[in-house]
Amino acid sequence: MVDYKVVGSIAFLEVNNPPVNALSHSVRVGLVEGLDRSNKEKAVKAIVIIGKGSTFISGADIKEFGKPMRGPWLTAVGEHIEASEKPVIAGIHGNALGGGLEIALFSHYRIALKSARVGFPEVLIGILPGAAGTQRLPRVTTVPVAMEMIASGRHVSAPDALKYGILDRVVDKDLSSECMKLAYNIIGKPLHDRRLRNRPVTPVENLNAVYDAALAQATRRFKGFIAPVKCLQAVKAAVTADNYEAGVNEESRLFADLMRSGQARALQYAFFAERATARWQLPTGESYRTCKPLPIKTVGVIGAGTMGSGIAVTVLRAGLPVTLVEQDRKFLDRGVAMIKSVLEGSVRLKKLSPQGLQKCMSLLKATVNMDDLRDVDLVIEAVFESLSLKKQIFGRLDKLCKAETILCSNTSSLDINMIASATDRPDRVAGMHFFVPAYVMRLLENVYGKATSGTTVATIMQLGKKLGMVSVLVGTCNSFVANRTMQKYGTQATFLVEEGSLPQEVDQVLTDFGMPMGTFAVGDLSGLDIGWNIRREIAQAQGMTLTFATRFMGGDRYSSLSDRLVQKGRIGRKVGKGWYKYEKSGGKVATPDPEVTQIILDHCKELGIERRSISPQEVIERTFYAAINEGFRCLEDGVAAKPEDIDVCWLLGFGFPRYQGGPMFYASQVGLRSVYDKICQFHERYPNQSIWMPCELLRRLSRLEVTPPMSEWTMKTTSKL
Ligand code: 3HC
Ligand code: NAI
Repeated sequence: MVDYKVVGSIAFLEVNNPPVNALSHSVRVGLVEGLDRSNKEKAVKAIVIIGKGSTFISGADIKEFGKPMRGPWLTAVGEHIEASEKPVIAGIHGNALGGGLEIALFSHYRIALKSARVGFPEVLIGILPGAAGTQRLPRVTTVPVAMEMIASGRHVSAPDALKYGILDRVVDKDLSSECMKLAYNIIGKPLHDRRLRNRPVTPVENLNAVYDAALAQATRRFKGFIAPVKCLQAVKAAVTADNYEAGVNEESRLFADLMRSGQARALQYAFFAERATARWQLPTGESYRTCKPLPIKTVGVIGAGTMGSGIAVTVLRAGLPVTLVEQDRKFLDRGVAMIKSVLEGSVRLKKLSPQGLQKCMSLLKATVNMDDLRDVDLVIEAVFESLSLKKQIFGRLDKLCKAETILCSNTSSLDINMIASATDRPDRVAGMHFFVPAYVMRLLENVYGKATSGTTVATIMQLGKKLGMVSVLVGTCNSFVANRTMQKYGTQATFLVEEGSLPQEVDQVLTDFGMPMGTFAVGDLSGLDIGWNIRREIAQAQGMTLTFATRFMGGDRYSSLSDRLVQKGRIGRKVGKGWYKYEKSGGKVATPDPEVTQIILDHCKELGIERRSISPQEVIERTFYAAINEGFRCLEDGVAAKPEDIDVCWLLGFGFPRYQGGPMFYASQVGLRSVYDKICQFHERYPNQSIWMPCELLRRLSRLEVTPPMSEWTMKTTSKL
């Protein structure tokens, strides 16, 4: 995995481990062998380490973590490089990340293409740069920069890295020949000062203040994560340790602590889970391997409301022309103004250039005439959530658009098969379920119906990637996978309040667990009237009238507590009151409201509910286990293909703490037997809550002596087992 060639007097060690040139065992062995060989060969006067393909080296091979480590360990490889008698140059293009940057910092010189990026992203997978990176970076740059880079995981552009002192030279092109030029320049020059172990750490004034500032920034950004703290401790050790070796030892100790932590396992799982979503398969057997996406050059969006405008921003930012259709000129103007204002916000945040803004706006065609969609390649419909309206629109689009146009709905709950039935092209109909705000949230739930073709799925999965999102493919069902599992969690939270907790107590437990907001605060933000309208529709469909005394709907337990709040005008943050009151800081801060407590107590009294004390543990189990049981049901009925897909929905759709992996991963860590047994206990206690009916797939898995890997959590594999 390391090719060896000599050009003139220079040996090139070319790392060849596609796709990202990770430092797998064979690469480490190859580097050591290449160094030994070039040091032995008399004709060789200098050595260049370079990457083949699109990149230099993207770090250690994360797949090897948690498995028995085969030597040489990365630090030993690095020390071999540093000790080389002949000068070693790292020639960087693409990425030099993690262990890749460490290899560069062990080299005597570093030269990079202008387009290259360097960084230490270890913190994002729960560890720290463990091959002396925390000790070497502050020897080439300042301590505050080293702390910020390592604790944030930020990728730094080559020109910035040059400014920071991390690189010696940045070139526009011809990396190999620039490496050769540099090599001929340095042959015979002393290497002592180029070996970073011999260099002192860059002097820093008031180390404690620098450390405290970096810590405050890191804990704000990574609430609940342990790795950023250890990253900072390791960099601090570079300054406080007696010498380089002592610093490296401290780094190793902190690294080992992190490697053993549950957080590292969860974060590394999340890294691969996000990438696994791209490996989709339909029940027909068509898959990412067999199906080619169609090119999408133009997109139509119908509805310029919250979602339609947000989706338009996302598509425009990806450089695709958008035809935005509204029913009403006034709403259209409002939508266009919103698009412009979001893009202007991106310019203010320096995420988009002023020219980029102009370009996006020039790609937007706003219209009230649906006929303008005649030539687009793909349509995303985002009108009101009404099946009859959506069917009417899809019927019209079917007649209007080119035969190959793909028609998608952003519905958050409706059956894609029903929508497709309004067309003569059900194979080209699918769901593209964006989350709000669509220009911020990275999750895209792509939904297939029974007739959706593999080509259509391949196309929308590819489009999602182009939009910079993580696409999860799911089957059609009520509310799809993300919201279907989330609803179970939210419902249990309301039952807990009915049984004895207060909203702020439940929310506190959930945020302590790591959720960015409690479920009641989220409800206030979205508006309690939305759920109320949906519940009324469901009740109507069942021929019922909702009253506050309603305890059951469709035979299932029902809580009317939220309805009571709506009836009192407490519909959420937009009116300054819901589950909380919003009086402070311009209505942004949620404060518990004694009036709500009274409403809850009156409600319980009226319904004869005897309130009890509820432990934080019960809050966690009731809310998350309800979601987990539903997650297993999604796997059982096939709407979710793999547990990773459910976890990614929660990580990117709801901000589930990444260091817990996702609800399904969390269940694997708690132990499926214990989760299943608890669900059975809840089922006994609450026979009239269908959510606690234990899922058969979970039952089978939990009864096994050894829990199989998550990739085997399917009905098919469990029946074999
Ligand atoms: N180890 C193993 N596999 C890796 C990997 C790594 N470090 N980095 C990427 N891969 C795999 C991905 O899983 C994916 O595999 P798949 O196609 O089978 O799903 C494939 O390589 C391509 O990855 P991406 O889809 O992410 O490709 P992109 O081009 O979008 O991004 C990247 C490239 C920026 C390098 C991104 O993959 C990335 O951020 N990788 C992780 C980098 C990292 O964390 N490095 C530090 C590792 S830890 C370390 O070095 C410890 C040391 O300090 C001791
Ligand atoms: P919205 O009410 O903000 O916007 C809907 C827009 O569609 C309105 O501007 C309306 O004028 C327009 N419209 C209605 N009929 C039309 C027609 N025949 N032709 C052209 N335009 C028409 O609604 P929102 O929130 O944007 O929701 C849209 C869809 O997205 C719904 O299906 C909803 O379920 C779904 N969704 C909503 C999310 C949310 O949080 N708001 C999240 C994910 C999906």
